Order: sequence, then C-alpha cells, then structure tokens
Amino acid sequence: MCLLSGAAGGIDDPSMRTVVIAGGTRGIGRALADSLDADVIRLGSADADLTSVTETRALIARLPDRIDALVLSAGCFSRRRIVTGEGHERTFAIGVLARYLLADGLRPALERAPDPMILNLCGVGGIRAGRVHWDDPTLTRGYSLLTATMQVARSNDLLGAGFADRYPGSPIRYVLYNPLFVDSGMHRHFDQPARALVGGAAKVFGMPVTKAATPLKALLDAPPPAPLTALRRGVPVPLPDPADAARLYELIRTTVY
Ligand SMILES: NC(=O)c1ccc[n+]([C@@H]2O[C@H](COP(=O)([O-])OP(=O)(O)OC[C@H]3O[C@@H](n4cnc5c(N)ncnc54)[C@H](OP(=O)(O)O)[C@@H]3O)[C@@H](O)[C@H]2O)c1
Repeated sequence: MCLLSGAAGGIDDPSMRTVVIAGGTRGIGRALADSLDADVIRLGSADADLTSVTETRALIARLPDRIDALVLSAGCFSRRRIVTGEGHERTFAIGVLARYLLADGLRPALERAPDPMILNLCGVGGIRAGRVHWDDPTLTRGYSLLTATMQVARSNDLLGAGFADRYPGSPIRYVLYNPLFVDSGMHRHFDQPARALVGGAAKVFGMPVTKAATPLKALLDAPPPAPLTALRRGVPVPLPDPADAARLYELIRTTVY
C-alpha cells in the first residue's frame, strides 16, 4: 500500500502485520516491500519530502496508530552542498533528522504492536572515515559527497546506539544493517561520469536488490532478541559508543526543536 493510495490507518487486513518502509518506492526498500507478506506502506518523495522536518512530522501524523515494523531506507546524495528551506544540509536532513523523527514519532505506534522493530539501513561499522562533524554538522566548511555520506553513516550508527538508552524498557528492537554494495540504482544520484562508473561497478560488484532484501525480510519475520543489533551484511559488528550517541541526540534536539 502506498500512503497516497491508501488512507492512513486503513489497514487492508487487521490480522496482517503493518510495515512502514521510508524509501519503499525504489532500490532495496522496494525489493524488501515486494518480498513481505504484510500490509506494507511504501513511502517515497511523493508522500512527503523527508528532507523537511515539517513534512516529516505531518507524515508521521498520517500513519497508522499501530505499526509492527519501521524500515528506514530513504536517502539521497549530492555532489553539491544543498541547504533545505529549513536551513539544514540536505543529506543530513533526510539521512539523520528524518530518521530520528520517524523513529521517535512512531514509537508509540510501534509499542502497540506485539513484536515491534526498527530496521535502519545504514553504514554501521562500515567505513572508519565516517565521523560526525560536531562543530560544523551542516558542513559549511569542506562539504563533499563523501564527507556528507560518511557523516550520515556514522550518525545512523549512533541513532541506533542511543535508542535503547533513550527509551529503556521499550519492547522495540532496533537493528542497524549495512547491506554493503548493492545494485540498487542509487548511481542516478550522481552526475556523469560518476553515474556511469558507479552504475557499471554496481552491475559487476553490487548485490542484486532482491538478494539484498532476503536477510532483511528474515530479520523482520523474526526480530533478534537484543534491544540493539548491528550487522554488516549479516555479520555482527561492535556496537557504537553510547556516549557519542547521547551527544548526537542532543545535537538533533537542538536542531529540530
Ligand atoms: N545501495 C547500496 O549500495 C547501499 C549500501 C549501504 C547502505 N545503503 C543504504 O540503504 C538505503 C537504501 O539505499 P538504496 O540504494 O536502495 O536507495 P535508493 O535506491 O536511492 O532509494 C532511495 C529511496 O529514498 C526515497 N527518497 C529519496 N529522496 C526522498 C525525499 N526527499 N523524500 C522522501 N523519500 C525520498 C526514494 O523515494 P522516491 O523514489 O519516491 O524519490 C527511494 O524510495 C540508504 O539509506 C542507503 O544509504 C545502500
């Protein structure tokens, strides 16, 4: 179900699980949506512009009041630094602020489900270069596509690491999952010649989206028991530092409120 074609709360079959996939209209998110035996709400940019805090909040209010799983898979990249109308660097806005808002805002709906989970497709433990630029998170100094992407990757690790601390006792299991290189079509975000190079490399070295979706479906069908699990293509990796996570939550709090 797409939110545009189905009213929020209008679950087709109340006995089915409801899975919300932010970024469910393309790439890995769409392949995962296609594979699930559930009422799937596939969110794309036609439903809400997730680079906007205001639109993300309005979207949350339109979603059902019971959700079994939330998948965070929306993202976009840019070679040039783009600032949203609300003053946020765009990669950070969709990759971090929207994910924070969705997880935080949909938490009550998730906690009404019997076995809730959040699956965050991210860069967990993947690339050591990733770091949060604490003194300049909007990257006014030294923006590059790689710097912005790596900051988002690192921040998502910290979003997961901080969730359980922020909501102790919540039944929601949070899974950070880095699928590594997937032939998802994401090269369309790049200008030429990078688009052709990345697209060609993805065809040769990337995992097909349907194959990348298989372990994600398994996680949604049987959420791991721990409050937080961090996996790189299915292999457990060390969990990020909770102190850094608390620092990121504070940074976000001062950014969006
Ligand atoms: N592909 C990889 O190799 C890889 C590797 C590691 C991690 N990941 C992570 O996995 C996730 C999915 O990657 P992917 O390659 O499948 O992505 P993708 O093919 O580029 O799909 C991105 C999704 O985000 C949505 N989106 C983009 N801009 C939006 C906006 N402004 N508002 C609302 N939705 C928006 C798109 O919706 P519309 O189509 O409607 O615009 C689409 O559904 C990303 O978080 C990525 O960082 C991917």
